[in-house]
Amino acid sequence: MMSDNIYLLAGFAIIWVLTFVPSWWLLLKLLALSITARRTKRFFLYLFVYRLLIAAPYVFLLVFGQNVLPDIIQILIVGFVVMGLMFSVIRFFFSEKVVSWLWYVYGFVYDGLLHYAPYRRLTNQVVELSIKQQPKPRRILELGCGTGNVIVGLQDEYKHKIKVVGVDSSKSMLNIARRKCSEDVEFVESDITKFLSENETKYDLIIMQNSLYALDDRSDLWSKLGHTLTTNGSIVITNSDRKGSSSITKEHLRYGKWYELLHPKLLIVGLIDAFISQLSSTGKFHFLSEADIRSEIDDLYTMSEPIRTYGGVNILFYLRHKGKSV
Ligand SMILES: C[S@@+](CC[C@H](N)C(=O)[O-])C[C@H]1O[C@@H](n2cnc3c(N)ncnc32)[C@H](O)[C@@H]1O
Repeated sequence: MMSDNIYLLAGFAIIWVLTFVPSWWLLLKLLALSITARRTKRFFLYLFVYRLLIAAPYVFLLVFGQNVLPDIIQILIVGFVVMGLMFSVIRFFFSEKVVSWLWYVYGFVYDGLLHYAPYRRLTNQVVELSIKQQPKPRRILELGCGTGNVIVGLQDEYKHKIKVVGVDSSKSMLNIARRKCSEDVEFVESDITKFLSENETKYDLIIMQNSLYALDDRSDLWSKLGHTLTTNGSIVITNSDRKGSSSITKEHLRYGKWYELLHPKLLIVGLIDAFISQLSSTGKFHFLSEADIRSEIDDLYTMSEPIRTYGGVNILFYLRHKGKSV
């Protein structure tokens, strides 16, 4: 009896461990596919295999533990499997909410990135390029400002008085940004496209650090940015143009301390970033190449030669009005 229990537990543990990574991978894939409304045969196949993997260790218990496990435990296991199936359906049914939840949840752990050397370097590079482009701006706008790390960097460097506005659609990100930045920074909770449509103020410097890829519709973006920029203003942008977490981690090991990688918030950030990568493969997020960007902005702006950064997966560049009358 005792040895039956041990075999049963060992079998359960082995199947659980073996199915853990593939089931998480499938879950991210499924969430990404469901957001882009690709309810294809592939989606249902993934969903089927995902549920199978999740249920496998429990089905093993039920099949091989019939004579060992008390009835009540068997009933609880069946309830657990059925409830999981129901949650799965609910999760994919409300899939359109997932992106806004993603940014909301991300806000609670986002500053785990401050323990990541490539992120600190990227933010410093954005601040440096901004100062080089606009040594004495009067007004600065950051679109998709997150928890305000770029704004903090700018405020540390610029010594004169500047009006700074940060725009983001995530409440949790903005709550943290408000706590970190000085009181004269104005934070606006808004979608970037909506903000640009309604805004009438002009800015000398507009910054977008890793928010361009999240914009669904860029049809009017460049002209709206042009209307928001002063005649001699600059737009500083950094955006991922490819996937790849290992090269970023290698950069961390070159510039940071290895144990920083174990920070719990950073580990969750890693999981969320894996999901963002999945979304880029489904077309929900846009890791635009230099050529893509040049083709979109060509009539309106001159684009600087991009610098490759963030473990080689990001490009960093600035834009200037081509003519003086955009
Ligand atoms: C990867 S984070 C970058 C945050 C910050 N720029 C930084 O690098 O630390 C992307 C940010 O863009 C915001 N965002 C994404 N799509 C947005 C949209 N359509 N309108 C406004 N903010 C958006 C998210 O809430 C998130 O804070």
